[in-house]
Amino acid sequence: MLSVIMKLIAPSLLSADFSKLALEVGEVEAAGADWLHLDVMDGHFVPNLTVGPLVAEAVRKHTKLPLDCHLMVSRPEDWIEHFAKAGAHCITIHAEAAKHLHRQVARIQELGCKAGVSINPATPVSQIEEVLPIVDLVLVMSVNPGFGGQKFIEPTLSKIERLSQAKGKHKFLIEVDGGVTASNIGRISKAGCDIFVAGSAIFSEKDRARAIATLRAAI
Ligand code: DX5
Ligand code: ZN
Repeated sequence: MLSVIMKLIAPSLLSADFSKLALEVGEVEAAGADWLHLDVMDGHFVPNLTVGPLVAEAVRKHTKLPLDCHLMVSRPEDWIEHFAKAGAHCITIHAEAAKHLHRQVARIQELGCKAGVSINPATPVSQIEEVLPIVDLVLVMSVNPGFGGQKFIEPTLSKIERLSQAKGKHKFLIEVDGGVTASNIGRISKAGCDIFVAGSAIFSEKDRARAIATLRAAI
């Protein structure tokens, strides 16, 4: 029997024009985006500040797409409930930031959201091995988090491969975030990635439908 492998594209709003966020959201939704990726930064875990639950809630009202909230914050446990209430589909926290990762993953799921864990480029897959049986998603950072428009860090591909091998036994999806372009998305997909976050590759193009179609065709 043929199994259909779903590959999803999640535009990162970090590269959108925040002065017209609702329009940008509408454009990428119409352009064929599968998920919307919202980068939450606290100026502490990462050297940048972005948005909080208020913006997540506002975005939620302007789209039917699942809202993929990536929490790059030092105390994710303080924010999980707020993002769940704001209407997040998926809440991803960093393994480097959560003191009790197992507990926080369970809490996200209790609140009715999908739970993701993310690892920075310097963090080994072994650090999240014990939560792989319970997570819904593993987000592999392929740049050091904090900014859009950075270059893809090649060695992170082997982490995707390792996760893909481990995935057989579990149910999680693999997501990649940072430096995804039409020239590397094929290799990333082959390594076993399911969800591709792309900021500048989509929002720097005037024609978002063409940008998304180009990425999809290269998968
Ligand atoms: C980086 C963010 C990414 C970023 C991706 O800290 O988590 O989501 O916006 O942007 P590009 O695709 O431009 O690397
Ligand atoms: Zn992100």
